[in-house]
Amino acid sequence: MNTENEPRALVAGNWKMNGLSHNVAEARALTEGLDEAGCDCMLCPPAPLLPLFATALEGSPVALGGQDCHPEASGAHTGDISAEMLADVGCEAVIVGHSERRADHGESDEVVYAKAQAANRAALTAIICIGETQDQRDAGETLAVITRQLDGSVPEGVGGDDTVIAYEPVWAIGTGRTPMPYEIAEVHGVIRGWLVERLGEEGESIRILYGGSVKPSNARELMAIKHVNGALVGGASLKAQDFLGIIAAYK
Ligand code: PGA
Repeated sequence: MNTENEPRALVAGNWKMNGLSHNVAEARALTEGLDEAGCDCMLCPPAPLLPLFATALEGSPVALGGQDCHPEASGAHTGDISAEMLADVGCEAVIVGHSERRADHGESDEVVYAKAQAANRAALTAIICIGETQDQRDAGETLAVITRQLDGSVPEGVGGDDTVIAYEPVWAIGTGRTPMPYEIAEVHGVIRGWLVERLGEEGESIRILYGGSVKPSNARELMAIKHVNGALVGGASLKAQDFLGIIAAYK
């Protein structure tokens, strides 16, 4: 596990477009025994469930996050949700630039940058996602892609209190495949280097999560990799037992 000079880890669950109101019981089950957790914990349910989750998680150490926000605070944007609205229902953070939004909604680095700024404007932590596709990895472009996404998506002057980076190789999401530990270490090392070069000492305090097929059986190994400060978990966050199994990597 990372210790010296590394920020306290965060394990965040992204429910994506899964869950109905009766699944809130699962969220409640998730809070069991977490007072002793060795990391910060967060759940990001679909927007309609946010108020229900806010109630279910009240008094627990599990923070609430959104999955996306619009760059603007309000206005004529049918179907969109602003960072201010997320803050209003109890969110402390919001995921921006997830590869599914980059792919499904054509979100560019520029859009992700604006969304990260919007998150910070509303006093939310922006969890900025980056990651290469299988084709980009095969072509040896991983580090160039990561650096380009950092250059384009991370606002100036951010720090550990308002920003988290999530490295999620697109080909590892929902596939059961993960990079080799040395490959994750290489990318996380490049991200840490970029953050420190850009932000100075503050760059040390920004958490760098790994995401993509994290599960209880591989969490301990993945979370022990240098500069891995937690996980962004999709599928395995839907079941309390699995999510708690991942959090247990920090016991
Ligand atoms: P997964 O998704 O854990 O289901 O691979 C991760 C993510 O997209 O954040």
